[in-house]
Amino acid sequence: MRRLRRTPALRRLVAETRLSVDDLVAPLFVREGIEEPLPIASLPGHFQHTVDSVLAESKRLAGLGVPAVVLFGVPARKDAEGSGAWDPDGVVQRALAGLRDELGDEVVLVADLCLDEYTDHGHCGVLASDGSVDNDATLERYARVALAQATAGADVVAPSGMMDGQVAAIRRALDADGHEQVAVLAYAAKFASDLYGPFRDAVDVCIAGGGDRRGYQEDPANRRESLAEVALDVAEGADIVMVKPAVTYLDVIAEVRRAVDVPVAAYHVSGEYAMIKAAGANGWIDPQAVALEQLLAVKRAGADFVLTYLAGEVAEALGG
Ligand code: PBG
Repeated sequence: MRRLRRTPALRRLVAETRLSVDDLVAPLFVREGIEEPLPIASLPGHFQHTVDSVLAESKRLAGLGVPAVVLFGVPARKDAEGSGAWDPDGVVQRALAGLRDELGDEVVLVADLCLDEYTDHGHCGVLASDGSVDNDATLERYARVALAQATAGADVVAPSGMMDGQVAAIRRALDADGHEQVAVLAYAAKFASDLYGPFRDAVDVCIAGGGDRRGYQEDPANRRESLAEVALDVAEGADIVMVKPAVTYLDVIAEVRRAVDVPVAAYHVSGEYAMIKAAGANGWIDPQAVALEQLLAVKRAGADFVLTYLAGEVAEALGG
C-alpha cells in the first residue's frame, strides 16, 4: 500500500476526500445596540458584530470564496415569547437586508431560525403553564420568524429548535406568502450536547432555572432516532438536512448520508472549535492541522458542507 503514499503529489492524486472553500459556511453573530464589535472570550477570533461590522466581515469572507454565512441575532431586549425574532426591524432582519443590498447573490444568506436568543428564559420555544416548551404554540412563532427572515432577504432559513413539525409549519408559511424560493435547511438530527457552551456565551443565553434542552433535542445515545428525524424533515419539505454537532456524531452523518438524497450538512459547533483553540493555545496540538483533519473527517463521513467557526481561517489556509 505504501507505493501510493510516497510523495505529496501521489497522495493528492489518490485522495478520496477533499476539503474546499466551497464546503464552508461561516456562522456570524450580530448584536443590537452596540457601537463596536465585542470579542467573544470562549470563541477566540469571533465577535458579536454590529450591523456594519457583520457586513464588513461577510464581504471579507466572500472575498476569500466562502459561499455562505449563517446569521444569529442577539437582541437588546428579550421577552417570554421571543418577539424580537420576528420583528421586521429586528437585528437579524436589518443585517439580512444590508447584506442583500451590499452583496447581492454573491453569498448565500442563511438565517438561523429559533427563539432561544430572544426569549428571557432561554428556551427554544414558548412555555406552557407547566414550564415545558409548548410545541404547537412555538410553531406559530417559527412561521412568523420565517416570514420576517424571508422578507428581509434570507435565501435559506435554518430551524434549529427541534420542535416536531417545524419544517412543515415553516414551509407552509413561506409558500402561502410567496416565498417559494426560500429553502429550508433543517437542523434535523440535533443532539442535546454539552458542546454548545461557547455559543450560549456568544448569544447571551442562559437557560432559566439551570434547565437544559433534553426535552426537545436528541439524546446523544441515539442513532436510529436520527434517521426517523431526518425522514420526517425530508417528508415535511426540508431541502437540506443537518447533523449537529459534527465530530462527535460522524456515525450519524454517515448513516444520514446513506439514507437520503438531499444535501447533508454538519455543524462543527462552538465547543468543537473552542477545544481546538484551547489546546492550540497551550501548544498541545497544532490547531490548524487539527482543524483541517477534523473538517476532512466530517466530509469523509458524508457531509456535503460544514457550518464552522473555522471557515475564515481555513479559507485563508486553502488559498481562498
Ligand atoms: C439554537 C442553536 C444553538 C446552536 C445553534 N443554534 C444552541 C443550542 O441549541 O443550545 C449551537 C451552535 C454552536 O454551539 O456552535 N438556536
